[in-house]
Order: sequence, then C-alpha cells, then structure tokens
Amino acid sequence: MSLSLIANWKLNGSKEFNHHWALEFFRNFNGNNYSSIGIAPASLYIDHLKAVLADHDIMVGSQNIDMEQTGARTGEISASMIKDLGCAFSIVGHSERRILFHETNHMICQKLIQANNNSLIPILCIGESADENQRNNTYKVLEEQIIEALGNANELSSLIIAYEPVWAIGSGKTPNPEEINSVHEMIKDVVQSRFPKIDLESVLYGGSVNLKNASYLFEQKNIDGALIGGASLDGREFALIANVLKEQSV
Ligand code: 13P
Repeated sequence: MSLSLIANWKLNGSKEFNHHWALEFFRNFNGNNYSSIGIAPASLYIDHLKAVLADHDIMVGSQNIDMEQTGARTGEISASMIKDLGCAFSIVGHSERRILFHETNHMICQKLIQANNNSLIPILCIGESADENQRNNTYKVLEEQIIEALGNANELSSLIIAYEPVWAIGSGKTPNPEEINSVHEMIKDVVQSRFPKIDLESVLYGGSVNLKNASYLFEQKNIDGALIGGASLDGREFALIANVLKEQSV
C-alpha cells in the first residue's frame, strides 16, 4: 500500500510536541503497516521527529521544497537536503503556498522535477477557490492546474495528487463524498490520458477531514486516502483516522 494518510502539521510543533504526539499516536494506532502513513512537520524538526519515531517506519516528509538545487536563495531548503535527512516525500504546491507565497504552476512544475530528481515522492496539491466552486468551474480549474504543473514534469517515477478545495481547508466544510469521488476520477483520467509516463500512485483528499467524516470519505472508490491538517495535530485522532482507513481498505 502506498502512502495514503499524511499529516500536514503546517506552522505548528516543537520537540515537546513531537514526543507527546508520538506517545498518543502509538497508544491508539492498532495497525502494523506504518509505511502508508506520512508526517510533514516543519522542516526544522524533521531530524528530531525521525529520532522520536525511532524504529517505526512512518514516512517523514517536508511541507515544501525549493525549485532550485543550490544557489544564492537565502532561507530556502532543497529537495536534496530533504532527501539527505532521510525523507520519503514532499508536499508541493499547497494552496497556502500558492496564495500566501505566490507560487505559480510554473514554479510548482520545477519543484516536482526537483523532487523526482532526488527520489522524493511529490504530493501535488490542487484545488479550487470558493468562488470558482460556486461558478461551477471546479473541473476546469483543476484540469488547468494539473496540465500546467505537470507540463515539463511529464516523466515522474511517482506522483501523489491531493485534491484540496481551498474553501474546505480549516473551515469544517467539505464537498459531499460522492462529489469528491467524481473529482478524483476526473483527476486520474486526466493524468493517465495526458501524462502516460507519470506513475500516479494515488489521489488523496484534503480539507476538514476528521474522525467524524473519515469513514464516509474512505468508503468512496476513488478516495485513496487523506492529507490532514488540523485533525493531524492530535496524535490520538490521527491514529483513530488511520485505524478507520486500515479497516476500510481490507
Ligand atoms: P485541514 O485538515 O485543517 O482542513 O487542512 C487541510 C490541509 O490543508 C492539509 O494540507
């Protein structure tokens, strides 16, 4: 099973947080396949978190990577540095990066290439705004994001896409599970038909996933897992969501 449940801790965490989270997670997770679970802490804490997770092969990744390998780019962190720390993946093109840090599809494309060149699985985030959703432009916007972001990155040895409607992130609102399922089907069709040299491993959903809605989401055929923000900060809740996914995947 590939990476199917990823915690995006965003700008949260500390060494104390890592210890407490791990304690709560391992107390409540009843599976033994850790490699389908990923955590993206702030990059500064990757090393510490890996030490805290010790022998459990939970995947650790970054929330972002730079579009260049090296250079005069103060404050940036490259894919090769993330790989050097033993990470397996990186989130790329999260809507918060697109909106707050003005990342374009062109920059995201460069980042996908960097991830691929350094054997990191890129988790490409796409999603429509509330306005685009209300105007029934969801499919058009997502298709554009996929085609532009994958434009020059059309030979990736692995790729995971996370569908995260911008209006669903941190809002407590989600599209209904059937709608998400249809969107995921469209995403798989677009990638498979237009980018035959990309190995799309799975399509995850992100945006207000929690323990209450997890089972409704995971019962959909094309929802392969989730990328979780708020609810992933609680090691217990994240473990219980992982239990739900494990039970529904058998
Ligand atoms: P929430 O789960 O807090 O809505 O965040 C989703 C997200 O942005 C994950 O990348």
